[in-house]
Amino acid sequence: NGIAVVIVAAGRGERAGQSAEGPKQYRRIGGRAVLDRTIAAFRDHPAVGRIVVAIHPDDQMLFRDAVADPGRQVSVVHGGASRQASTRLALESLADAAPAHVLIHDGVRPFVDAALIDRVVAGLAECDAVLPALAVADTLKKADGDGCVVETVPRAGLFSAQTPQGFSFAPILAAHRRAHAAGLADFTDDAAIAEWAKIPVQIVAGAPDNVKLTFAREIAMADERLGTART
Ligand code: C5P
Repeated sequence: NGIAVVIVAAGRGERAGQSAEGPKQYRRIGGRAVLDRTIAAFRDHPAVGRIVVAIHPDDQMLFRDAVADPGRQVSVVHGGASRQASTRLALESLADAAPAHVLIHDGVRPFVDAALIDRVVAGLAECDAVLPALAVADTLKKADGDGCVVETVPRAGLFSAQTPQGFSFAPILAAHRRAHAAGLADFTDDAAIAEWAKIPVQIVAGAPDNVKLTFAREIAMADERLGTART
């Protein structure tokens, strides 16, 4: 039982542009693949049991090259057409094992650290859904289709969501199944599915370093940072 982890890494990473190394989760930063770093962060954590990684069916060779030694606790499933589908398929693969809790994480957030995992796990003692998030720091603008500012959105009470998001396993799997059965397919994170299913979501402090590598520029910056820090 205990805490399982789902890492979704089946995206095509189109926003990062083309690269010989394939989708962004397979790019090398500081000499090591993004996804290999992400998996290691959870594998090295003492509270974590099984880890399921959702990858694209076309990426098996890339995965093998990137993650030379996944470790015995890691299994791989094929993801789906959306992040939501990839998460659901990974959760289904854990249904028989029925862990008490699951952490769901983006494969493209390699800088997740043990303290952040600890905060999410600690939150799960109190509630069924835990979201690490950062208060929004920038001033937010709403614009029309031509880039003309329509209004300034008050940022008080606004947060940007990170992962790993923690859940009691049975309710989040049930919520995913219901969302799928209802034909809803556009949820961009699992906390949103919990909200839809009326599961209260508790925020804990995210980590500023826990960035999502989405664009080529962010990948280059991460590579530079690791190149000088040599972690
Ligand atoms: O595309 P986005 O930046 O929202 O992707 C977030 C995470 O979800 C990435 O780690 C990506 O690989 C994963 N994903 C997935 N299956 C998809 C689309 C995205 O596992 N079909």
